[in-house]
Amino acid sequence: MPNKFLTLGIESSCDETACAVLEGKDKLRSNIISSSLALHGPFGGVVPEIASRHTLECIDHVLARSLAAARYSLKNINLIAVTRGPGLIGPLLVGVHFAKTLAYALGLPIVGVNHLEAHLEVNFIARPRLPKSFMGFVVSGGHTVLVLFRNGKYHYLGETVDDAAGEAFDKVAKILELGFPGGPLIDKLARKGDPLKIPFPVSKTKGAFDFSFSGVKTAVLYYVKRNPRWKREIHDIAASFQRSVVASLVGKSVLACERNKVSTLVLGGGVTANSALRKTLSAEAAKRGIEVIFPELIHTMDNAAMTAFSGYARFRKHGGASGNIMADPCLSIGV
Ligand code: KG4
Ligand code: ZN
Repeated sequence: MPNKFLTLGIESSCDETACAVLEGKDKLRSNIISSSLALHGPFGGVVPEIASRHTLECIDHVLARSLAAARYSLKNINLIAVTRGPGLIGPLLVGVHFAKTLAYALGLPIVGVNHLEAHLEVNFIARPRLPKSFMGFVVSGGHTVLVLFRNGKYHYLGETVDDAAGEAFDKVAKILELGFPGGPLIDKLARKGDPLKIPFPVSKTKGAFDFSFSGVKTAVLYYVKRNPRWKREIHDIAASFQRSVVASLVGKSVLACERNKVSTLVLGGGVTANSALRKTLSAEAAKRGIEVIFPELIHTMDNAAMTAFSGYARFRKHGGASGNIMADPCLSIGV
């Protein structure tokens, strides 16, 4: 492997279109993200067709910016790593075909990357190697999934049976007329509210490591409908809703570590930017001797640094794929 082995990461699984250049194993030379979030705002959620069109319109520009920021050109690149799922089929197809075309034209190897694995593995960018075992927890707008990494493989433990945690934040923000995306807005409001004021219950699930957030969202909806003066209590509603979601996330992820005798919990995904989740999970894990690894804030949202890093590790282990990579919107982790 040459000293300056360069991996170009390409990510377009949802509303972000991103390219990153990774030098060697851990030197991130650029990390450019173009988000279509503002375009989805009026609809209160990501509109798949708008996301696809945005990716199609900006992906070559994002690539050019990423190469310029890294001070490299396409002819310096050694490997292409592209997110192949899970996510929205439209933007995934654009990203995968863009990457395959580049690989073909430049005669480069290409690797397909699992977006969920990449969310977790980006945490190891500055660490010597993946630990032998860890509990992985992806909490984002599209996923809430717990996986055990052991013996070099991901083993699926559970996931949400309805809304993902971030989706619940976004839907509650819509009920509270706050805007989109809802997570950061609720996080901010909640800082001035009483988290114990309103008991919004989280539904129980059959599987010990499954999650359910559609009930707590509906509880907020009914509370707002029953209380015409709810706007006066908006801080308490936000704090109480957030407390319920965070309690569920913390309780089950810590239990998963204890039951599987794992002492490292690795987080990934947009919701891991949540301040209450960071604080509560760190405190509860510390009490039990569990090390919690949160991504840097810049790496919580979708980005291509994680794609490049995960793709490079995969390439070192298994080599490149033929050009025959397919986008898979339902790609699982550890199933
Ligand atoms: O990982 P991500 O960028 O995209 C997906 O792959 O889904 O996550 C986006 C989600 C949105 O639902 C957003 O509301 C949520 O992450 N989010 C937060 C916070 N920041 C972003 N949720 C709670 N608190 C936050 N501070
Ligand atoms: Zn994501």
